[in-house]
Amino acid sequence: MASSKGVTRVTTNTLQKMKLEGEKIAMLTSYDYSLAKLVDMAGIDVILVGDSASNVMAGHETTVPITLDQMIYHATSVVNAAQRSLIVVDLPFGSYQGDSKEALNSSIRIMKESGAHAVKLEGGSEVIDSVKRILTAGIPVMGHLGLTPQSIYKFGTYTVRAKEEREAQKLLEDAKLLEESGCFSIVLEKIPSALATNVTEQINIPTIGIGAGSGVDGQVLVLHDLLGITVDFNPRFIRRYLNLEKDIDKAIKSYIKDVREVNFPSDDESY
Ligand code: KIV
Repeated sequence: MASSKGVTRVTTNTLQKMKLEGEKIAMLTSYDYSLAKLVDMAGIDVILVGDSASNVMAGHETTVPITLDQMIYHATSVVNAAQRSLIVVDLPFGSYQGDSKEALNSSIRIMKESGAHAVKLEGGSEVIDSVKRILTAGIPVMGHLGLTPQSIYKFGTYTVRAKEEREAQKLLEDAKLLEESGCFSIVLEKIPSALATNVTEQINIPTIGIGAGSGVDGQVLVLHDLLGITVDFNPRFIRRYLNLEKDIDKAIKSYIKDVREVNFPSDDESY
């Protein structure tokens, strides 16, 4: 499938093929035009407009406060930037749970107003009616199991999930249910590697892990964590490829100094 600029777009079929061929899927979050453009041009397969925007962009403590309108705003900015990646948008807390009609309406709004390609939602059997109803409209759905941050007030902690046999068994059943219902992929967050590998082997759709080891079909990270901007957040699953917080601090301090010492602008930078 070609985008408006003639670039071949990654689709849900591409991801399925990648799983079959054992090719790993690389996914990252983005929430704005400028960074999404760089992420897309670098060749990422999937951009997730995550509800982590609630923390990273708005500074909220949890993902609970972000609204559907705000998610659509972020998604629109990313869609304007990305030519190649498949763009998946999180359904925010309160826009899909317990009411499948509302789930469908929320998903239709995301697809129509932002131009994104798929939605993601958290949970298994509890949200299966919503998953099925969204799929009736031809909207691709990505599941999300394990640590599901929208339920933080139920869990009470961001610690590793499904370490006990009963929860691990329920997670495996939920993964199978999401697959049977027609989801094209499932995010597995912060669960033991052995469980994530087992789920990946037992289902035919791609699994994307975050804090779920290397036995999954792909990986996702929050872009700002990878770039070293969100330095106060330090779970062990993050690998920082840059230390941008330090570089940005240095650049801004140099600018302030130059302004104060009348070293900026120079004649060359003036009209
Ligand atoms: O919102 C988000 O960034 C996510 C990823 C952590 C998977 O859901």
